[in-house]
Amino acid sequence: MKRTSRPGNHSMCVQPMFLIGTYDENGKANFAPITWLSATSDGERYLIVVSMFGGKKTRRNVQRSGKMSANLVSVPMLPLADYLGSFSGNDGEKQGLSHAVSKGEKLDVPTLDQSPFVYELAVEKSVVTGESETFFCRPEHVSVDERVPFGEMGKGLDLTMLDPVIYSGDYHTLGKHLGTIGDFL
Ligand SMILES: Cc1cc2nc3c(=O)[nH]c(=O)nc-3n(C[C@H](O)[C@H](O)[C@H](O)COP(=O)(O)O)c2cc1C
Repeated sequence: MKRTSRPGNHSMCVQPMFLIGTYDENGKANFAPITWLSATSDGERYLIVVSMFGGKKTRRNVQRSGKMSANLVSVPMLPLADYLGSFSGNDGEKQGLSHAVSKGEKLDVPTLDQSPFVYELAVEKSVVTGESETFFCRPEHVSVDERVPFGEMGKGLDLTMLDPVIYSGDYHTLGKHLGTIGDFL
């Protein structure tokens, strides 16, 4: 393998794309794509880690309310996600593409009816690094398309059934489901 040097960036921290849903101070729902999303643990429970930069509306809404939804973007949702990432709620309500919105099942957060996988997240702690803020969140509720088998720790989950958009700087779809841990011993 002959490699060549490239500028360092995060493009190999490849992410499924999520739309973060928040309410503003007037109860208006706002969604924006945030792909800096990961997981960690506090020793007892899992935490979902969501990172945002700048003065975007989503960040301000999370700072105020302490909660958000994270709605997985499936391939049919890509035009909506691309649109929601191209405009800021700071400049007015994003009404360019219609999207059906419900309230979370456990938390007071807006969720997208079209999404096949939704986290409802309560912020436990946040850390500021320069222009960015990273929120460590407790998943208070998870709902998944009822047709998709979903076991403990995601075992047996065939991600291809959720048809997620994968983001690395460009948009991709997922390849094949290859098996589970231990299938290759
Ligand atoms: C594919 C994609 C991924 C993005 N990922 C992030 C991210 O991880 N963190 C972030 O702060 N902004 C991210 N953005 C930028 C916001 O979505 C964008 O600034 C949006 O307009 C913010 O809207 P708001 O002001 O209504 O919150 C992303 C945008 C796109 C299109």
